[in-house]
Amino acid sequence: MKKRLCALALACVAVCCIPDASASAKPYRIKKGVIVFDEPKPAAGQEDMLAFAAEPLATVRVGFIGLGMRGSGAVRRFTFLDGVEIKALCDLLPENVAESGRILSDKGLPAAAEYSGEDGWKALCERDDIDLVYVCTQWQMHVEMAVYAMEHGKHVAVEVPAAMTVADCWRLVDTSERTRRHCMMLENCVYDFFELTTLNMAQQGLFGEIVHVEGGYIHNLAPFWREYQGNWRLKFNQNHRGDVYATHGFGPDCQLLNIHRGDKLDYLVSMDTKSVVGKAVAKEIMDADEFANGDQTTTMIRTSAGKTVLLQHNVYTPRPYDRLYQVVGSKGYASKYPIKGYAFEPEQLAGAVVDYENLSTHKFVPAAVRKELAERYKHPILREVEEKAKLVGGHGGMDFIMDYRLVYCLRNGLPLDQDVYDAAEWSCIGELSAASIENGSKPVAIPDFTRGRWQKLDGLKFAK
Ligand SMILES: NC(=O)c1ccc[n+]([C@@H]2O[C@H](COP(=O)([O-])OP(=O)(O)OC[C@H]3O[C@@H](n4cnc5c(N)ncnc54)[C@H](O)[C@@H]3O)[C@@H](O)[C@H]2O)c1
Repeated sequence: MKKRLCALALACVAVCCIPDASASAKPYRIKKGVIVFDEPKPAAGQEDMLAFAAEPLATVRVGFIGLGMRGSGAVRRFTFLDGVEIKALCDLLPENVAESGRILSDKGLPAAAEYSGEDGWKALCERDDIDLVYVCTQWQMHVEMAVYAMEHGKHVAVEVPAAMTVADCWRLVDTSERTRRHCMMLENCVYDFFELTTLNMAQQGLFGEIVHVEGGYIHNLAPFWREYQGNWRLKFNQNHRGDVYATHGFGPDCQLLNIHRGDKLDYLVSMDTKSVVGKAVAKEIMDADEFANGDQTTTMIRTSAGKTVLLQHNVYTPRPYDRLYQVVGSKGYASKYPIKGYAFEPEQLAGAVVDYENLSTHKFVPAAVRKELAERYKHPILREVEEKAKLVGGHGGMDFIMDYRLVYCLRNGLPLDQDVYDAAEWSCIGELSAASIENGSKPVAIPDFTRGRWQKLDGLKFAK
């Protein structure tokens, strides 16, 4: 009798808990109208990586994986850095490895070990003479490679977005915390000149309290679609709705808002247009009739402290390049696109610019004042490296500043400017926005990748 009751109870539990078929395939549940993604449990004893500093490295020995358009540029930039040794180069295609090898020989640098083929990258990660693995492959491979590198004791720097799913964002966080290795996403736009200087102004209170920021990736990729190895990018977009490439616009926004350094991202809602140009491109290049990614995707985010963010993604239609970058504060405003400008309550600039009484918040400050401000509030990192960065280049120099800072912090045993939580927060927008769109723009809770420690650090600080 007892046995039969138990069986009945078990059957009842099983029936009651069967989720509907569509929900069971998804990595989230809808709770009180809000989409909530699954969160893994950390391993016992796992500690956070907030302000983590590793042992200083006199020389940073680096191995590069992925030597296409982006990776070969990174190799070239590294040849301009002091205190680095390029130990190994790897790409699926041997000809790409040979081409990057020539960058070294042309500069008279020692040859690096060469790897190619599907799995060459594993052997690179297994070497014992590498400190940093620098990953520039297509999106879908980032996490596998980053996790393997960390598991083999290496710090890892990984191109944007670091991960394409929320579960993979957690894998990066958990592996970094468990292995005590840095995992930095290579978000270069936070080092652009206007962004760095504006961040410095924000940190000195020029905008008062920032209440709203905007960021985007609006870049017509028509000239590039055929250049990605194996057509990986168009194929990915063909199968995914949402803001799949949010980090360039969102990274600078999160830095301005001190995300996981006092504030945290609460929830987002997202909406996309139908696909018109994307679909036509996919028809032309892949003879495909379906295309998931909308021509324009718009996402809104609210933070715990009551700030909002507007993000846009559009890599299809004919529009001038634009990352939005708008900063709305209680006492001032900054805008980078389509034209650079600042507006302030006049008293904000008392002592900072000569003729401040004649300013009005109805207009951008005159060009001469903007120039004066740019010089006065130039970020200390720019004062240090701007000239060389402009000479070396890489999106005008910001790419070199990023590499320079990464190597500087590793050599000096300092916390990196971008930590693994930044990588996860800025990358998770892809899958979260898709979930909102696929559910009629329902709100989606944004995971707290610090697991409750988002107030441990007080504001964003770049280590010196
Ligand atoms: N931060 C930026 O401004 C910026 C700009 C462009 C691209 N990116 C990012 O850089 C990454 C690469 O983009 P890309 O434009 O260079 O693409 P790409 O197609 O030119 O390069 C990808 C490279 O990875 C290689 N690869 C593929 N499978 C491999 C494997 N198993 N092992 C080793 N190598 C492998 C390919 O052969 C190719 O050379 C992407 O994540 C992209 O989002 C960032």
